[in-house]
Amino acid sequence: MNYVSVVVSGILISGCWCSVSNEVKFPTWFKFGAATSAYQIEGGWNASDKGVSIWDTNVHIRPDTMVNAATGDVACDSYHLWRRDIEMAEELGLDVYRFSISWTRLLPNGFANYISEDGKRYYNNLIDGLLEKGIEPVVTLYHADLPQILQDLGGWANPLIADWFSDYARIAFTLFGDRVKTWLTLNEAFIICDCGYEKCQTPLINDTLVGKRLCNKNTLIAHAKAWRMYDEEFKPKYNGKVSITSLFLWFEPATPEDKEVTDLLIDYWESRYTYPIYSKEGGWPPVLEKFLADKGKHDDSASILPFTAEEIQFIRGTYDFYALNHYTTRMIRKAQPGEKIGPWPLYGSELLGVQFLSDPTWEHAGADWFAIYPEGLRKQLHWLNQTYGVNEIMITENGYLDLDKHLDDWARLKYLKDHMEQVQLAISDGLNVTGYISWALMDNLEWFGGYSASFGLYSVDFSDPNRTRTPRQSARYYSRVTRTRSLHHTLDGLNYLK
Ligand code: NOJ
Repeated sequence: MNYVSVVVSGILISGCWCSVSNEVKFPTWFKFGAATSAYQIEGGWNASDKGVSIWDTNVHIRPDTMVNAATGDVACDSYHLWRRDIEMAEELGLDVYRFSISWTRLLPNGFANYISEDGKRYYNNLIDGLLEKGIEPVVTLYHADLPQILQDLGGWANPLIADWFSDYARIAFTLFGDRVKTWLTLNEAFIICDCGYEKCQTPLINDTLVGKRLCNKNTLIAHAKAWRMYDEEFKPKYNGKVSITSLFLWFEPATPEDKEVTDLLIDYWESRYTYPIYSKEGGWPPVLEKFLADKGKHDDSASILPFTAEEIQFIRGTYDFYALNHYTTRMIRKAQPGEKIGPWPLYGSELLGVQFLSDPTWEHAGADWFAIYPEGLRKQLHWLNQTYGVNEIMITENGYLDLDKHLDDWARLKYLKDHMEQVQLAISDGLNVTGYISWALMDNLEWFGGYSASFGLYSVDFSDPNRTRTPRQSARYYSRVTRTRSLHHTLDGLNYLK
């Protein structure tokens, strides 16, 4: 008996499912999903004619990058086991599955002059297999794995990246656009740039003064170029949607006096990558721009690259919906003059003079930085609605980190349930939140944490050559939510919540 039938018989025996009368249902148009990314699951790093990405290079020349010298050489082996991935998506009852295309699997040279037949076949199989099961593909074009050859030419710090990226995007839209209707250009540009040039994501370069700022601007232009190209050349025949995924921690002021600096920090983390796209006027967020300009007179680390008027217009409005990755919240307090920043210094701590804190009442997931405050998600959705008035928000990632990897993952189940509840509340507040995509479909290669960290609804046995996947309690619960479109506050008989 597979686990779906176990769940189904559980319902029949307990008979509780239909008897819960006061359950709030998600609207029928709401989409449930799960997500992964190419380097984190595919393996097959040098299969066929695949080219080398910056993550391939990095794990091979610096094995100490990941816990236990982990690599993505095999990962979940989804390069071979994609049929099982589709089966899992079906078991979960997903409406959508979000995955990313490996740029070097499709275009081994990084440039669009040579398309891999094998890469084409792989993604066609995956897309067709999902559609056969009635599951919609949501495809990310770039998720951390730049072709090494493009990195050697400067990567995201080279303005030509906008052309290289849109050439790649055009190939993907041409090959798969008849069947893929939801595209995400870049995953978390904040991480690509602020982290990538502060040595905590590839390309692991330490260049906070120049590289980071070039990258910030170039990712925005690259995204806009791909969006405009889709809008002009593909939208008329395929009528799909394109957006960019933003990472956004929610920041809560510790006291009313900390509100101003908290708003500035939101500008620094979020608006530096979103205001140019979603605001009515475009360009950098004005309060932050002024702060950086003033501070930059005597502090180089405060600079920001200017936009031309033409660039502002080019980037402004290049979205069809807002794609949000949300995991956690921080309490923000203004640092006292001379106070040491800690215990969790994050980007912007020194520059803006802020302390990142957790509220003593908040629980934590598998790491002390991962504070759990589900209400933060609803507040953030409201902030997005008020600030940008976006027509539609899709949650493209939300998930729970643990290190013990148990199948009985009650804490993950509760985290998912509590966050989905906040989504329901936001919808009943009148916000147009159209989907919730859980990170991740299965355990995978977590950046730097390797295989020691787990986010999966399914566990994966990484010591087994078959990379056997097994559903956790959270998967069982999620499959019930997707089928009934309800969170089941009363989980009688099924003992889902301890
Ligand atoms: C966001 C990233 O998109 C994903 O690649 C990563 O694994 C998760 N966060 C968890 O850290």
